Order: sequence, then structure tokens, then C-alpha cells
Amino acid sequence: MTNQGESANGVLLELQRVTKSFGGLTAVDNVSFSVLRGEILGLIGPNGAGKSTIVSLVMGVYQPNSGDILFQGKSLLKLKANQVVEKGICRTFQVEKPLLNMTVAGNVLIGALLRTADRKEAREQSRVIIERLGLGKVGHVLAKNLTVQDRKRLELARALATRPTMILLDEVMAGLTPTEIDQSLRLLRKLREEGVTILIIEHVMRAIMNISDRIVVLDYGKKIAEGGPKEIAHNPSVVEAYLGKKGVRNE
Ligand SMILES: Nc1ncnc2c1ncn2[C@@H]1O[C@H](COP(=O)(O)OP(=O)(O)OP(=O)(O)O)[C@@H](O)[C@H]1O
Ligand SMILES: [Mg+2]
Repeated sequence: MTNQGESANGVLLELQRVTKSFGGLTAVDNVSFSVLRGEILGLIGPNGAGKSTIVSLVMGVYQPNSGDILFQGKSLLKLKANQVVEKGICRTFQVEKPLLNMTVAGNVLIGALLRTADRKEAREQSRVIIERLGLGKVGHVLAKNLTVQDRKRLELARALATRPTMILLDEVMAGLTPTEIDQSLRLLRKLREEGVTILIIEHVMRAIMNISDRIVVLDYGKKIAEGGPKEIAHNPSVVEAYLGKKGVRNE
């Protein structure tokens, strides 16, 4: 069943020839790709390739210089970040941005209150999400006192509390142990089964290759490849983009 406004081929989010420059630097250069409903799409590329900028463009933090971004067939341009969240898209930040002087529970509650004015219901939803993310023991801890790993979990919990149709994950696995990465992968698969569409940015190659249905590769702001994980791993331009650079994180 397709929702109203969604194209027949199940495209949920579509970037159409999107360009974003900061002064003389073109951070995103004429990039087009689609994310299908129910899909896990990996977005990869060396440092500075433009991945996080794409997330900020979708969320309305930046306006593109040209091009369009459609969600369920309608342009997101001109919407503010809170309006994009109301449409059912949410993000996590690469550098975690919880409200530091608020507890874990308080941070998650803010997300939940976006969907319901009933505080009791919002509290119950928050509790379920907090447990699910393994944050039960630190529910009353101030965000500023969390470990980096728990802050990453809190980023995801805050995002999920808004009950998104689509979630944009910007390096939520950085700094996690292999066991924690496996836990995250299981959680993401479960979310997808529940109907959440996922765009995931990650430098942990094992994770991205393992979980993505399709992968889009950026380099210097340009899309250089798109395809299934195996296809991408053997694509000469992708190998060149990664090996040709110094300082690429390769964990
Ligand atoms: N607000 C900004 N002002 C000026 N330049 C910016 C801004 N945001 C990003 N850039 C530049 O745009 C380019 C793309 O940055 P972006 O953060 O999107 O890369 P990335 O692919 O997410 O990299 P990383 O893997 O290191 O997170 C970089 O050269 C970056 O320095
Ligand atoms: Mg980034």
C-alpha cells in the first residue's frame, strides 16, 4: 500500500540534484538519490565528503543552493527543522547534542511530547524506549555525566521518541565495541521490521556493509557510486576514493 503523495515505486525521500556551498567550497555537489520506504540505505564516503551536510539539508538546517528534497512526494524546502520532525523525519547528531543539564529521561520525554500532549503517555513511551536502548540504569543521570557510548544511545532514544517514519543516523556506532555494534545492528533491523525507514552514515565498514540494502557513496560532495554492498565494495572508484586519501578512519 502506498501512502498518499508517495510515488508508486515506494520512494519515501528523494534528493534531486542538490547542491550546497559554503563560501567557495561545494560541500554537496549536484547529488541525487532516493530512499525507498522500509529500506536501510547506507551513505558513506571519506571525511568531508558531505554526508552530514546532506542530513542537515534534509532537516532544514541548511537550504540548498539548488535542487529539491522531497518527502512523500512533497518538497521539504522552506520547512524549519521542527516542521521536518513533525513530518516524521528525525536525525541523530554526529557530535551528540542532548540537553546536558537534563536527565536522560527528560531528554527522551521532550521527543515523546512532540507526538502526544498527554504527559503520562509520553512518560510511558519514554520509559519503553529508554529500556530498549539499555539506558534504564542511567535514566536519572544528567546527560552531561554520561559516557560517550551512552550519549550515542541517548541520541538514538531521543530520535525514536518522536516516532519517526524515517530516521537519519549520523555515526551512531563510532566508539562502540564490536559487541555493542552487533547490538545496534540488531536494534536497527528490528526498527526496520517495525516499519522505520533508515538512512545510516557510518565509518564502521563491517556494520554498513552488513546492514545496508543499498549504499550511496560520496566523495568531495559528489555521488561517485550507488548499489548493493558487494557491488560497492568492488567498485574501483570507491576503492580509489578510500585508498587515495590519508587520514581515513578505517575501523
Ligand atoms: N557550516 C559549515 N561551514 C563551512 N563549511 C562547512 C560547514 N559544514 C560543513 N562544511 C564543510 O563541508 C564539507 C563536508 O562536510 P561534512 O561534515 O558534510 O562531511 P562528512 O562527510 O560528514 O565528513 P565526516 O565523515 O568527517 O563526518 C567539509 O569540507 C566541511 O569542512
Ligand atoms: Mg559527518
